[in-house]
Amino acid sequence: MKGIVLAGGTGSRLFPLTKITNKHLLPIYDKPMIYYPIQILVDAGIRDILVVTGGRNAGDFLRLLANGKEFGLSHLDFTYQEGEGGIAEALGLAEHFADGGKVAVVLGDNIIEGSIRDAVEDFRKQESGAKILLKEVSDATRFGVAELEAGKIIGIEEKPKKPKSNLAVTGIYMYDGSVFEKIKVLKPSGRGELEITDVNNAYIGEGTMTFAHLEGWWTDAGTFNSLLRATNLVANSSARIHNPEED
Ligand code: DAU
Repeated sequence: MKGIVLAGGTGSRLFPLTKITNKHLLPIYDKPMIYYPIQILVDAGIRDILVVTGGRNAGDFLRLLANGKEFGLSHLDFTYQEGEGGIAEALGLAEHFADGGKVAVVLGDNIIEGSIRDAVEDFRKQESGAKILLKEVSDATRFGVAELEAGKIIGIEEKPKKPKSNLAVTGIYMYDGSVFEKIKVLKPSGRGELEITDVNNAYIGEGTMTFAHLEGWWTDAGTFNSLLRATNLVANSSARIHNPEED
């Protein structure tokens, strides 16, 4: 399975931090943000990775990541999203790279404690469709929120005012090759973006969406508060790894 990291957009919610650089190049504790989603894919055994960049200083991604050697990769692919047309628009740019096969997609500002290896293995065995990872949160209005019934996912609402559950849809998605046809028929949302939630609801409508619960902590890093939380979570985890007596 190939992997895709979506790091387009302008990071307007982090202005002025993003005035002269790209959000995904900002530090999360001891590494640039973009390192974390790439590592998620590498830890799941994925070696063929495309980074979709955008906005300001896109050339810096190439200088920073080069050929992916630091991650044990032999090369990395890059492409560029013009403007900020949404997560699904950014994913649409990966059609040629995916070449009809299954893909695992991670948003460039998502950081996790654990691993997605088991979910990726399960999706390899899944005949077709899609798979998402859910996480319980206390601030569900900030995310795509899943509604479950009898153990099945029956719908997702993007940033609902009154969430139907506390289960956020994390920015980690697995799709079969039909995802690009689904993106082509999307209409922009109220905020003028092609929404990944509409893609996911198309799979739910087809009855081919599965889900798993993500173990360990999860955060995005696209606002000042979540950027700080991400840094603290990574710093605390790495302190525990380096100094087990502190547990
Ligand atoms: O973090 C999980 C959440 O991410 C999901 O629960 C939501 O359903 C999903 O819509 C998304 O919500 P956000 O509003 O937090 O997404 P945001 O606009 O912050 O974009 C997240 C990442 O997606 C960003 O770091 C880079 C990538 N992106 C985003 C846009 C709008 C692109 O590559 N291109 C884009 O045009």
